[in-house]
Amino acid sequence: MGMYAVQMPKRVVFGVGIEEKIGAEAKGLGAKKALVVTDAIIEKIGVREKIEKPLKEVLEVDILDKVEPEPTLAAAETVARAARAAKCDLIVGVGGGSVMDMAKVASAAASNPEQGVSAFLGANKIANPSVPKILVPTTAGTGAEATPFALVIVEEKKKAIASPYNLADVVLIDPTFTATMPPKVTASTGMDALSHAIEAFLSTGSNPLTDSFALEAIRKIANNLEEAFSHGDNLDARLKMSLAALLAGMAFGNAGVIAGHAAAHTFGAKYKIPHGVSAALALPYMMEYNAVENGVKEKLAKVAREMGEDISGMTGEEAASKAVARVKKMLEKLDLPTRLADLDVPKDDLPGLAEAMSKEKGYLARNPRKIEYEDAVKMFERMWSGE
Ligand SMILES: [Fe+2]
Repeated sequence: MGMYAVQMPKRVVFGVGIEEKIGAEAKGLGAKKALVVTDAIIEKIGVREKIEKPLKEVLEVDILDKVEPEPTLAAAETVARAARAAKCDLIVGVGGGSVMDMAKVASAAASNPEQGVSAFLGANKIANPSVPKILVPTTAGTGAEATPFALVIVEEKKKAIASPYNLADVVLIDPTFTATMPPKVTASTGMDALSHAIEAFLSTGSNPLTDSFALEAIRKIANNLEEAFSHGDNLDARLKMSLAALLAGMAFGNAGVIAGHAAAHTFGAKYKIPHGVSAALALPYMMEYNAVENGVKEKLAKVAREMGEDISGMTGEEAASKAVARVKKMLEKLDLPTRLADLDVPKDDLPGLAEAMSKEKGYLARNPRKIEYEDAVKMFERMWSGE
């Protein structure tokens, strides 16, 4: 029996009407002044008022509402400067994955005036503990509320800031906040969560605890994502997707993601494709590539079973291909691209993408099947043609 450890947010508050709790949570962290890190979207969806008002009743509040999607290092430095200037003792991140990642950067910057954001890049590089932070997701998928990672684009490459100081002190999840997500965003963020769960489950960094998070997330997504996509006002489906995204975040926040995200980060950053769309596209190809390994087949058979596929009497190989086929079918039903060719990625760029992918050593080290440059080229060719 091996030894393992998991880390996760200190406290998770889940339910409808979270605005009634946020003031008490902020006070519970002993805060006097909060900086709310967010983007313009939350105003449109009516969440801004719900967060700002109760916070202002208990403490001083500054707002930074200019976070860009898929932030670059320069954008992250802007957030860091604003966080230092605000002289706050609490960060409240309200939004999707990019916003929550920037809230993590803000909380690290506020207590580390000597370090620029580039000095945070890598593992355990944040010197002093971050100021406390509350994360409030408005999408169901990125899992950023649950992970110790913040992602920043540096020279067209996604780089991670990995530190336990990035973990939230409090996560507030209100599934009604996700109900206004347009179907497109519901689809891509939901499939991002599925890719987190499946990649974490296949990762060599997985353990029995992350496996139980991952499998439950897979089951919930298979049962609820298509419903949340086609009937956005179905609160039960939204609630299950919020739970699934959180569980998948707790799985990959510990077990890590593998080759699918390594591939997705390369073309996602280069062609400015939303992260969920690129992670979703890479997912079935990553599964196919790994399915030939013993041990992986059996795991993918479990994935198929959690997704509700009938695998009785099947070999591991047959059951694994059922899981792959189901994921491809989900992509089609959710109107998501299934081939890089559909995204106008030039075929000539594939070797360059494969080279960039083979440099994603951290992700590839956890992949159950070894990936050399040649393998990456083949995987990209399949992703391109959809064959
Ligand atoms: Fe992801």
